[in-house]
Amino acid sequence: MNVLGIETSCDDTSAAVYNGRSLLSNVVSTQLVHRQFGGVVPELASRSHIRLIVPILKQALSDAGIGLKEIDGIAVTYGPGLAGSLLVGMSLAKGLAISMGRPFIGINHLEGHVWANQHRKNSDQPPFIVLVVSGGHTQLVQVEEWGRYRLLGRTRDDAAGEAFDKVGKLLKVGYPGGPAIERIAKKGNPAYTHFPRAYLEEGCVDFSFSGLKTAVLNHVNTLGPEQMIDRVPDIAASFQAAVVDVLVEKTRTAARRAGIDRVCLAGGVAVNRSLRGAMTSRLSEDDITVSWPPPQMCTDNAGMIAIAGHYYLERGQRSTLSLSPAPSLNM
Ligand code: KG4
Ligand code: ZN
Repeated sequence: MNVLGIETSCDDTSAAVYNGRSLLSNVVSTQLVHRQFGGVVPELASRSHIRLIVPILKQALSDAGIGLKEIDGIAVTYGPGLAGSLLVGMSLAKGLAISMGRPFIGINHLEGHVWANQHRKNSDQPPFIVLVVSGGHTQLVQVEEWGRYRLLGRTRDDAAGEAFDKVGKLLKVGYPGGPAIERIAKKGNPAYTHFPRAYLEEGCVDFSFSGLKTAVLNHVNTLGPEQMIDRVPDIAASFQAAVVDVLVEKTRTAARRAGIDRVCLAGGVAVNRSLRGAMTSRLSEDDITVSWPPPQMCTDNAGMIAIAGHYYLERGQRSTLSLSPAPSLNM
């Protein structure tokens, strides 16, 4: 069964084809128009999706080496995300489903991030714990079986990626902040200063990153403009170390408590090598194995939506054409 995946929940326009064994294509176009604003502008995002979605769809079919007629089902992100952006992908998916007479299913974007870990044959099967760390979400989820998820913990304020982006703006290293901070942190000293780690109550696996962001701001304010430029790599490295410490320790606590020895990472922040390295080495002390998708499948992409959609469509599950965008959808 060839499933077409469509993803337009935020600022990435993407289409992909998955045949149940491998991803035949996964085309992503990241909208650059938002860079000058240091964040995603919803109105510009939906306009860009409208312009890009059909060329991206054609590219995904061409990369997969198949025609539209060979698509057997359609999977599309229906939330969470920006309402206007979600509408673009959903309208295309519904239009194709009606005109081609093919089944269609709406996929939760967060669930898609989890499914990105199934990108290769013989990937780990549930149960496992997944840390979803993106620009919009930071959650620890226990995947009991496909379709059955237990939310263990979530951020009480900023998402980890959002903290990277805000600190990136503060340090003037560019947008999105995550990749820029990781790059600059390589030249810095993570022990330069100790930023606070919000572990919250004893044993708690919720997160909080807003205090850390404020601590970085306060630190920057103690420096003069020139001193600050010299210190950017050290501040970036110290900030990154604080985020990584909290993500690793909370994940370790959640896995230990659930008695589960497998952890998967998901979402854009899972690209971060410092996070991957620390998670692997520290959780190995408890014999917990850690895995993650390739970088292009950690950040937003339609491949993960096609993989999830394939699973449900093959089992006969369908959405009706009355499905609406769900901007605040949860796992
Ligand atoms: O999953 P994603 O593409 O979109 C959302 O669903 O939010 O994640 C984007 C987030 C951004 O906040 C970006 O700064 C962060 O992922 N990110 C990173 C890295 N690459 C992307 N954060 C830390 N290190 C990275 N290398
Ligand atoms: Zn995402």
